[in-house]
This record gives sequence, C-alpha cells and structure tokens, in this order.
Amino acid sequence: MALKEISCIVLFLSIFSETSCITIDVVTAPAVHNINSSMFVGVTIDSGVIRDNWRTMDFSTYQMLTLASGLDPCYLRVGGTDADFLIFNETQGPALKEQRLVNDDFSMTVADWDTLNEFVQEVGWQLIFDFNSLLRKDGKWDPTNAIELLKYSVKKGYKPAGYELSNEPDLFVTINTSVTPASLAADVGTLRDVLSSMTSSPFLVFGPDTSSVFDMNYFDDFLAAGGGKNVDVATFHHYYLNSATATVDQFVDVKVFDSLKSPLEEAVGHCLKHAPGKQCWLGETSTTYGGGTLGVSDRFVAGFLWLDKLGLSALIGLQGVVRQSFYGGNYGLIDVNLDPNPDYFLTVLYKRLVGSPVLNVTQDTNPNVRVYAHCTNTNSSMGYPKGSVTVYLMNLGSEAVTVNMNGGTSQLYMLTAGDDSGLVSKFVKLNGNTLVLPNKGELPPFNPLHHEGPLQLQGFTMGFIVFPEAAKKECLV
Ligand SMILES: *[C@@H]1O[C@H](CO)[C@@H](O)[C@H](O)[C@H]1NC(C)=O
Ligand SMILES: *[C@@H]1O[C@H](CO)[C@@H](O)[C@H](O)[C@H]1NC(C)=O
Ligand SMILES: *[C@@H]1O[C@H](CO)[C@@H](O)[C@H](O)[C@H]1NC(C)=O
Ligand SMILES: *[C@@H]1O[C@H](CO)[C@@H](O)[C@H](O)[C@H]1NC(C)=O
Ligand SMILES: *[C@@H]1O[C@H](CO)[C@@H](O)[C@H](O)[C@H]1NC(C)=O
Repeated sequence: MALKEISCIVLFLSIFSETSCITIDVVTAPAVHNINSSMFVGVTIDSGVIRDNWRTMDFSTYQMLTLASGLDPCYLRVGGTDADFLIFNETQGPALKEQRLVNDDFSMTVADWDTLNEFVQEVGWQLIFDFNSLLRKDGKWDPTNAIELLKYSVKKGYKPAGYELSNEPDLFVTINTSVTPASLAADVGTLRDVLSSMTSSPFLVFGPDTSSVFDMNYFDDFLAAGGGKNVDVATFHHYYLNSATATVDQFVDVKVFDSLKSPLEEAVGHCLKHAPGKQCWLGETSTTYGGGTLGVSDRFVAGFLWLDKLGLSALIGLQGVVRQSFYGGNYGLIDVNLDPNPDYFLTVLYKRLVGSPVLNVTQDTNPNVRVYAHCTNTNSSMGYPKGSVTVYLMNLGSEAVTVNMNGGTSQLYMLTAGDDSGLVSKFVKLNGNTLVLPNKGELPPFNPLHHEGPLQLQGFTMGFIVFPEAAKKECLV
C-alpha cells in the first residue's frame, strides 16, 4: 500500500491549530542507529539503599524474582551520591544504625555484596558497580578498598559486567570537595589497570556519570583529558525537573519533553569527538531529581516522559539508558511494598517489542503526538518475525488523533490510565485490561489487539504498534 493513497482529512482546531490527523511512514523510514536491543534499558538501585540497610527491599521473595526476571536481560547499576561514601568492609557484621548519616562514610558488608551478586545471578541480570572516588591519597584515587572488594569477588566467582568510579563529580562542590576532570580521567585509568590485573572475566568501564545540571563542561573535559580512552561507555545523567516542585501538568507538557533534545545532542557530540567508537549512555536518569515526586513519578503519567526519553535517546544516538530506579524513591519501577508501578509494565513491553536498528519516523504535524520506530526485537518471548517494525507513540493532548500508517496489518499494545484517577492512576491498562500480577510467580499476559487501517489514538494514551508483515529490508538482517 503506497502511503500517498491514504486519505487524511486535516482539521484545524480553532485555538491550537493542531491537526487531528497525522501520517507515519514506516515503509520508507531510514535506519539511523544500532542499539543492543534488550540491553538498551538498564535499571538502578541507589547506593543509599545499601546505606539504609536495604529499606523495605527483599531480594528473595517469589514476586521479586518474578518481577526482576521479567526485565531480563538487564543491567543493574548500583551507584549514586552515596557511592562516594561507601567503604567495602570484609570484617564488619551487619551495618550499624549509627552509620546512616548523610555525607558520612558507611560500610558495605560482605553480606550486602553477597546479596546483590546472588540476586543478579539468580535473575540473569548484569551488575554495574560504582566505586568510591573520594578515597584519595596524594591527589590520586587510592584503589586499596576496591582491590579488597575485587579480591573477594574473584574468590566468590562474582563477575560484575561493569564498573564506575564516582558519581556526579561535577557536583562535588556541594560536599565541599572537588576532583578535576583530568584527575578523574587518570583515576579511571587506574581503575582499568586494577581491573585488568585482577579479573580474567570481561568488564566494561563506565564514566564519568556527571549530573550535567549546570553544563556539559565536566563531561567534555573528562573525555578530552583521556577519560574517553579509559572508558568503554561514556555516561551522563539527566532529570527533567525538581521532585519537590514538579506538577502533573508538567509531565504532559511538550516544552518539558522538548527540553531533553539539546542536552542529548550535546552529549553525543562530545562522545563522538572525544570517545569515538565508544558507547554513549544516559547512565542514570528519571523524571525528577531528589527522589521522585510522590503521586506523580510513580503513577501512570510518568510513562509519557519515560517512553519519550527512550525514543529520543535512541534516535539521537545513545546506546543505553539506565532508569533511576528499579527500587527506591518515588520513581521506582516497583514501589515500597515491592509491587509494580505502571512504568514497570511499560519497561517490560519496551524491552520485548523494541529492537534495532532505530528508524527515523519524525512527524511534526501535531506536537502532542510523539512517535518513534525501531525494527522489532525478534529475540524476545513475543515471537515476532524478522522484518517486523515496532512504532511507539503517545498522545499528550486530551483530544483523539487519527494516525495513518503503512506497513500492513498491525498489533496494538495501547496503554491507558488504570482507573478513575486518570493521569495519576497507580495502575495502567493494556488494551483496556488493568495489568496486575495474576499470582506472585507470573506476569500478566500481554495480548495485542489485531488492527487494520487508520488508528484512533485517544488522548493521554501511549503504546506500541507492531507491523509483523512489514518485511522491512533494514529489519531482515
Ligand atoms: C553492543 O554491546 C557490545 C558489547 O558490550 C559493544 O561492543 C557494542 O559496541 C554494542 N553495540 C552498540 C550498537 O551499542
Ligand atoms: C571494618 O569494620 C571493622 C569493625 O567495625 C573496623 O575495625 C575496620 O576498621 C573496618 N575496616 C574498614 C576498611 O573500614
Ligand atoms: C561546606 O563548608 C561550609 C563552609 O565551611 C560549611 O558551612 C558547610 O556546612 C560545609 N558543607 C558540608 C556538606 O560539609
Ligand atoms: C530524522 O529525520 C528528520 C526529518 O527528516 C531530520 O531532521 C533528522 O535529522 C533525522 N534524525 C536523524 C537522527 O537522522
Ligand atoms: C537472544 O536472547 C538470549 C536470551 O536473552 C541471549 O542469550 C542471546 O544472546 C540473544 N541473541 C541475540 C542474537 O541477541
């Protein structure tokens, strides 16, 4: 079916002059980047959760193992502000309450480290661990404590997939210290040497995990000063808004969505210049910084910014996005009771349906409709054939929009608010059915709706559209 044959009646809404009809061309959309499909999305647990003796986290429950395995395969990054206060202590028993002061060193015990490593092994995840860069001697990082941890890990057969050194070093001024980009670049070289000499399993080095709150200078200077050579994956962080002041309206405000584009483009530019051939990742990211906004970051509405961030990041050329957080804060994929939030299910669907390469299907007819496309992930339990295309899109407006698409018949996975609370619903519906675990050992079924012809994309809806018959050349390899 040729796209030009699709009729599209363009209506102008008097005030906003947005059209109620858009066209997405999946047949001619060019492939622009490759990603490592299922590994593109990782998750975090903040080092602060270790400081707090794991809070309500329990890695051993049947439901936890089910939820974690549902995201498989997946990187788990353990890092954050508290990483620069964490000391591995092989002799200490369970951490003491007295040690839980903010900005004060605390111990990660052998039991803590065992718990983490046994968990990732059990659920098939890959661990990325963030070392303390503030253990310093003569102006340089002192790797003694890291060596202790690595020795212990080798003895136990633990094989983290990656390591980092420091967290948001560009914000060290807030804790009255500083490590220059050039020093940190050299320190990361030391970390790489230590890892090479101590472990025979493959590893990746990530960094510098800058906050990028003020500017990208630290990130750029670190990469230019040798950091680009010393890392395998250049990482920076991003949050749209402050948790304390963010509002629901901002979570569907196109201006907030658009604010991500320029930092991503700038970061990718720095990566290409100073770390050519290396990967470039959002190493820690969420909607709002400072723990997430209660009742917003943990609700249905948060999915719009999350899905858009995944789309824009892949389109602009990142190879990984690590969600703050799997557990912890109000932005967790799971809540304090260890039940899934709406973004958990969104992330599972993304991992299973979205593959590589990334296709460019930019549309600018209606700014409220944001749309992305990739070749379908054909190596997942969904079982789609090679050549399939997955479009993912959202409507940030309240009015329905007609979406014309070529590519043949499609299968819809449409996500809407789970109950009468609307945007701030604690639940999400897939094709009209609320997603809940049928039992502790099983995820709900993710059944698509078969569809032909133009799609009515309702207001405040997001979703995935798979075209199993597209036989797109770029997706057949
Ligand atoms: C995929 O991962 C491998 C191993 O980490 C890496 O070498 C490669 O560059 C990655 N490819 C992309 C497109 O990110
Ligand atoms: C580990 O803990 C023990 C007991 O609390 C303490 O004596 C020792 O100094 C600690 N070691 C490190 C490296 O902090
Ligand atoms: C940093 O130093 C200032 C001035 O000495 C002091 O007021 C402040 O409490 C210090 N902050 C921290 C986090 O140590
Ligand atoms: C995608 O296509 C748009 C419109 O043609 C273009 O402006 C943009 O640069 C393209 N993006 C990429 C990553 O190729
Ligand atoms: C397909 O998925 C399996 C299980 O996650 C993984 O072991 C394998 O490497 C993947 N194959 C490709 C080609 O990505």
